[in-house]
Amino acid sequence: MSKIRVAVLGYGHLGKWHCQKAAAHSDVAEFVAIVEKFPAAQAAAKAAHPSVRIVSDLSEVIDQIDAAVIVTPTSTHFELVSFLLNHNKHVFCEKPLCSNDAEALKLRDLAASKEVVIQVGHSERFHQAWESLRASLQALPTPFTVKINRVAPFKGRATDVDVVQDLAIHDLDLLLYLFKQRPKTITARGFKIRTSKWDHASITLSLEEDCEATVTVGRNATKEVRDLEVVSKAGTLTVDLFANKILTASAGTFEDGSFVREETYPKRDHLLIEHEHFYRSIRERRPGVVTHRDGFNAVHLVDCALRSLDRMAPVAVKPLE
Ligand SMILES: NC(=O)c1ccc[n+]([C@@H]2O[C@H](COP(=O)([O-])OP(=O)(O)OC[C@H]3O[C@@H](n4cnc5c(N)ncnc54)[C@H](O)[C@@H]3O)[C@@H](O)[C@H]2O)c1
Repeated sequence: MSKIRVAVLGYGHLGKWHCQKAAAHSDVAEFVAIVEKFPAAQAAAKAAHPSVRIVSDLSEVIDQIDAAVIVTPTSTHFELVSFLLNHNKHVFCEKPLCSNDAEALKLRDLAASKEVVIQVGHSERFHQAWESLRASLQALPTPFTVKINRVAPFKGRATDVDVVQDLAIHDLDLLLYLFKQRPKTITARGFKIRTSKWDHASITLSLEEDCEATVTVGRNATKEVRDLEVVSKAGTLTVDLFANKILTASAGTFEDGSFVREETYPKRDHLLIEHEHFYRSIRERRPGVVTHRDGFNAVHLVDCALRSLDRMAPVAVKPLE
C-alpha cells in the first residue's frame, strides 16, 4: 500500500506537536503539507519542516492529500471537516469535532454517505490508567458518585471558547467512555470572571441507577488540578492525572495492613498514539479509535451544559448516538 499523504491544518500551540507526530510516522504516512493562515506561524512551520509544503488555504493542496489533521480553532472545525468529507478525505479532528448540535446534525448526514475514517482528538482517553481500570469502573456497584476536576490558573489561551467547550469536553467524553451509565439530565452553574465567556463551570450529570457525576472546570483557579474520584460502597478510587497516580481505599484492608493503596502508572505520548491509530484505521479500513459518533455525543453534552448555564436550570439529555 502506498503511503498516506497527510496535511496538518493549523500550526499553533498544538499544531506544532501534531506536525512532529505526522513526521514521526514516515513509514506509513507522507507528511506533504501544513495549512496555516498566519504569516508568522507559516515562517515557523517552514523553519521546522523545510521539506513540507506550507500553504495558507486547504484548497491549494486538497488534490494532493489523502488525509488531514485539523488543529485550528474550534470555530473553523465544521467548515474544514465538511470540506474534507466532501472531497472524500480521511479526517483526524482535534476536539471538539464541531461547535454545537446543529453542526453535528449536518456532519452526521454527511459522514453517513462517506467511507472514510473520521477520528476525534479526545486525547484524555489515552491515559494508561484506563487500560487497567475501565473494566472495573464499568462493573462498579451502583449507586456511585464521580467527581472530575480540571482547573488551572489563567494562562490566557483558548479564550475564543468557554471552559465547557475547551476543558469539560474532555471529561464529558471520559464519563461516557469509562462508565456504562448514560446521562439523563445536566445541571450546570458557572462564572464569567476574566472573559465574556464561562471561565469556571460546575456541571452535574444525573446518571442511570441513581448515580451522579460532577465535572468542575476552570481557568482562573489558584492551582492546577486534574483528577477523577469515584466513591461507591466498594470504596474510593482517585486517579491523579497530573501525578499519574492511582489511589484506592477499598472497603477492607490491603495485605500490608494499610487502608489506602498508592500505585503509579507511566506517562504516555497521547498524540503519538492517536496518530498511530489514525494511520492504522485508514490502512485497515476500520473506524477511528474515537469515532465521529463519540464526537457528536461529547458535543451534545457540551451543548446541554451551556444551555443549563445560560438558563440556570436543568436540561434533559437526548438519547446518545
Ligand atoms: N486534545 C487536547 O488536549 C487539546 C489541547 C489543546 C488544543 N486542542 C484543540 O486544538 C485546536 C487548536 O488549538 P490551539 O491551542 O493549537 O490553537 P492556536 O490558536 O494556538 O492555533 C490555531 C492555529 O490555526 C491557524 N488557523 C486558523 N484558521 C485556520 C484555517 N482555516 N486554516 C489553517 N490554519 C488556520 C491559526 O493561525 C493558528 O496558528 C482547538 O480545537 C483546541 O480545542 C486540543
